[in-house]
Amino acid sequence: EKGGYDHFMLKEIYEQPRSVGDCLRGRIYPDRGLVQLGGIKEYAEKLKNIDRIIIVACGTSWHAGLVGEYLIEEYARVPVEVEYASEFRYRNPIITEKDVVIAISQSGETADTMAAIELAKERGATIFGICNVVGASIPRLSHAGVYTHAGPEIGVASTKAFTAQVTALTMLAFYTAQQRGAITESKLIEYLTELNNIPALIQKTFAANDHIKTISEEYKDASNCLFLGRGSSFPVALEGALKLKEISYIHAEGYPAAEMKHGPIALIDADMPVVFIATQNSSYEKVISNIQEVKARGGRVIAIVTEGDTIVRDMAEHTIEIPEVSEAFVPLLATIPLQLLSYHIAVLRGCNVDQPRNLAKSVTVE
Ligand code: M6R
Repeated sequence: EKGGYDHFMLKEIYEQPRSVGDCLRGRIYPDRGLVQLGGIKEYAEKLKNIDRIIIVACGTSWHAGLVGEYLIEEYARVPVEVEYASEFRYRNPIITEKDVVIAISQSGETADTMAAIELAKERGATIFGICNVVGASIPRLSHAGVYTHAGPEIGVASTKAFTAQVTALTMLAFYTAQQRGAITESKLIEYLTELNNIPALIQKTFAANDHIKTISEEYKDASNCLFLGRGSSFPVALEGALKLKEISYIHAEGYPAAEMKHGPIALIDADMPVVFIATQNSSYEKVISNIQEVKARGGRVIAIVTEGDTIVRDMAEHTIEIPEVSEAFVPLLATIPLQLLSYHIAVLRGCNVDQPRNLAKSVTVE
């Protein structure tokens, strides 16, 4: 049932070209520059007049929400707030009928996320669910929504569900942009053409697997690890850190790279690897200075870079290449090597990757 893989987690990592493809299927029409999200089409008009979007979720799904915030604000120009469902539900939030609340959940059964939906609904908001499990409680509580179609996820550590959530949010960002006239048709054609090719590019990222395994051998005994990124790679860093801590029990923190000097820089030494997402995007130069700051303090750097990058290669101990894509799609590719890194480190440490201690696949109690 693991399809020849040693663990469900690895199988699910390798399923991502398919799962992202399934999430996109029938929803994007690159030639026509068109996104169609059947599950929310009754609210297409409403999206034209909303004042803001609030995203509520927990854990990995909350990280996907943060990626969504960057994408929706950038392309649809709607203000977005991303909240931990557990905090949102207890802080008497200000919500109006003009708000859309997006609840993101793989399982569709997370207690805090359900309670956040109920509260927002009582206060008149429109609720969209982004969910993987068809017919689960969260889609039933929502007014409308988008299924991620990643297929059943068995590994407790979320992998393919995360990339499918990010895919759904990417489509939602372009869909909202389209409804609000915030993007031109030619730009949409360009972006959707690229998005359509992401499954093939995810497949290409697997070429680095053996290299990542070798890197993992060098760092498997670390007790701490820092993950840094900027822009939409910041939530990717958070997700990379969460993966490492939950399956390998190595303490890991994700930070926006520029925040490093406001505290975590004190931790840097040769024993704490620093993982950077340093792809060639708008913040590339800034990330390079952050890498220099780490190097100047004797830190060891593993960097996710754009294919062919030589600048970061000359600075970092190790680089892992991903194909070149527009900034909007970097999270979908940069996530994959981080999943593999955590996986190999956890296996080398003899951890139970599919069933980490103390964790449950779905958190149905608050
Ligand atoms: O089913 P949900 O997406 O609502 O679950 C939320 C979190 O419990 C979940 O993402 C958790 O953080 C993952 N196990 C992380 O890999």
